[in-house]
Amino acid sequence: MPPLPPNATIGIIGGGQLGRMSAMAAAELGYRCHILTPEPDSPAAQVSAGYTLADYEDQDALRRFAAAVDVITFEFENVSAAGLDLLASLRPVRPSPAVLRISQDRVAEKSFLRNAGVPTAPWEAVGSLDELREAAARVGQPAVLKTTRLGYDGKGQAVLRDPSDLESAWASLEPKPLILEGFVEFRCEISVIVARGADGGGSVFDAMENRHRDGILDLTLAPARIAPATAAEAGRVAWRVAETLDLVGLLAVEMFVDRTGRVLVNEIAPRPHNSGHWTIEACPASQFNLHVRAIAGLPLPPGLRHADAVMKNLVGPDEVALWPQIVATPGLIPHLYGKTEARPGRKMGHVTRLFPLDRLPGDPDISKALGCLGA
Ligand SMILES: Nc1ncnc2c1ncn2[C@@H]1O[C@H](COP(=O)(O)OP(=O)(O)O)[C@@H](O)[C@H]1O
Ligand SMILES: [Mg+2]
Repeated sequence: MPPLPPNATIGIIGGGQLGRMSAMAAAELGYRCHILTPEPDSPAAQVSAGYTLADYEDQDALRRFAAAVDVITFEFENVSAAGLDLLASLRPVRPSPAVLRISQDRVAEKSFLRNAGVPTAPWEAVGSLDELREAAARVGQPAVLKTTRLGYDGKGQAVLRDPSDLESAWASLEPKPLILEGFVEFRCEISVIVARGADGGGSVFDAMENRHRDGILDLTLAPARIAPATAAEAGRVAWRVAETLDLVGLLAVEMFVDRTGRVLVNEIAPRPHNSGHWTIEACPASQFNLHVRAIAGLPLPPGLRHADAVMKNLVGPDEVALWPQIVATPGLIPHLYGKTEARPGRKMGHVTRLFPLDRLPGDPDISKALGCLGA
């Protein structure tokens, strides 16, 4: 496909903040966006030229959506395979439905990673309580039991610390089947975001460090405070995943650095990622800019950083209530996603704080620099 010409329309499946920031990056490059979402007044539709308000399974709506756009991408991973195949028969879908399918299912994802020679925690697919008991005997405890589909922000998982946890955890998690993973006693969690074009060229951002609270990303530090060799290994792993997927688009790879400094992949997301929001201010080309470039067939500038950065999510009613102080604090770069209802655990916005290149301070100074958002 030749490069998408200016004023062409990008269709985005999903109406959340990742779609919103992708649409804003698309607008900078002279493209329009059209959002497919079942949610009226969605964050992405608020900043886009048009939208189709419909269920992701509504075949007529999918046809109308495809007819309104030139290329299709997604910011939301749980579209049905049948829906995606229909869309792919009408317009280019980037990344491909095959890539999305792998990332939708933790067993498909872990099998893919094993075949790609990428290290992960030990895991087994479990379809019954008996299989769970057998798997737990092999994988050991502690372990993490997860739904294979539809999990996000730590939902659909249970940590198993004791054999007596198996039965209640099996009963509590839906939908089945499940996957059992060995618990990684990690030194830190990191992610790497890569963009890859149809010509096989690409860009890789430096590894960043992610800290979660209640299963939800709280803070990202860029770059990760890890040994250079570990960071280089993380970059190589992420690129190998993108190449093996034959990815066209953007991909985030979440990883653990274990106690021995080894990099283990946790999960992959073929879309912009919460841990990459700091790239909007700290990089000449942000993750959203590279996402749009990759699916539009434009050249991909390197994933360079001109500043170090910390990103703090604004989660739920309590953090977003600090908005008046946040916008009054010099140095905090505020983002709100246009969500009217602040439910607990809901990502309402984020804040970025820049630091001079290669001068990311220690935790106490980061906390101080975040003002009212500091720990
Ligand atoms: N095998 C594991 N060992 C240790 N911690 C884990 C493991 N799997 C998940 N976690 C923790 O739970 C968080 C959410 O799990 P993840 O698999 O990334 O699901 P989600 O789709 O909700 O992001 C991870 O970022 C990590 O902190
Ligand atoms: Mg995750």
